[in-house]
Amino acid sequence: MRLVLVGPPGAGKGTQAEFIAAHLSVPKISTGDIFRANVSEGTPLGVEAKRYMDAGQLVPDEVTINMVRERLGEADAADGFLLDGFPRTVPQAAALDKLLADLGDSLDLVLELIVDEDEVVRRIAGRRQCRGCQKTWHVEFDPPSHDGVCDRCGGELYQRDDDKVEVIEERLRVYRRDTAPLIDYYGAQGKLVGIDATGPVEDVTVRAIDALRSYG
Ligand code: AP5
Ligand code: ZN
Repeated sequence: MRLVLVGPPGAGKGTQAEFIAAHLSVPKISTGDIFRANVSEGTPLGVEAKRYMDAGQLVPDEVTINMVRERLGEADAADGFLLDGFPRTVPQAAALDKLLADLGDSLDLVLELIVDEDEVVRRIAGRRQCRGCQKTWHVEFDPPSHDGVCDRCGGELYQRDDDKVEVIEERLRVYRRDTAPLIDYYGAQGKLVGIDATGPVEDVTVRAIDALRSYG
């Protein structure tokens, strides 16, 4: 299955992507995670991306599209994938459609996680991410057993630079302006299904998998 997850920053895309990708046995491809890995390795791509990420802005389409094109060309993505954080602009969506059409494929479904802005601000402000395995935790909603330490790998937890209050507002503004138009774009293709992404993580996963079953 070829699936895209869309929703505002902090909606729970990364959290749900893990479970859904495992359920579908497809790779989870998160452009945010790929950028962050490049930032921590200090690659030229990471140096360029960091300028935009820290300001809450989008990395330019061309850079992002080239990166995704390369990643989708890897063997594990040949029979399906779950994209988290891409596409994020209409030109990125059009480039993805074209890329897949050239391979004789197309997207199956776009799953929108619906959460209001007050809730996403609460989720982002309390998020802590593992330096080791990238898993996200939440100080209140999904706390690790020991402060600052990842239960899964023992890695150190940190707060993303773009999760600081002053950057969150800009990310939400960019989402409304550049990413929300994708809802109409995919709606017009008949590929969009929205689910209520509030409540416990497990409940949202059940709704997501039910939605895939009815549309898949
Ligand atoms: P990216 O990493 O994609 O950030 P984002 O879209 O802003 O999404 P987040 O990672 O903030 O949130 P999420 O929806 O994954 O939520 P999560 O599961 O962590 O992108 C970062 C930056 O990279 C961008 O700003 C841009 O600069 C660049 N970039 C990336 N892709 C790009 C692209 N395509 N084009 C251009 N630039 C790009 O959950 C949030 C928190 O809530 C966690 O703490 C979690 O534990 C908690 N939580 C999750 N679910 C629940 C629940 N049901 N109840 C309570 N808490 C919950
Ligand atoms: Zn970890």
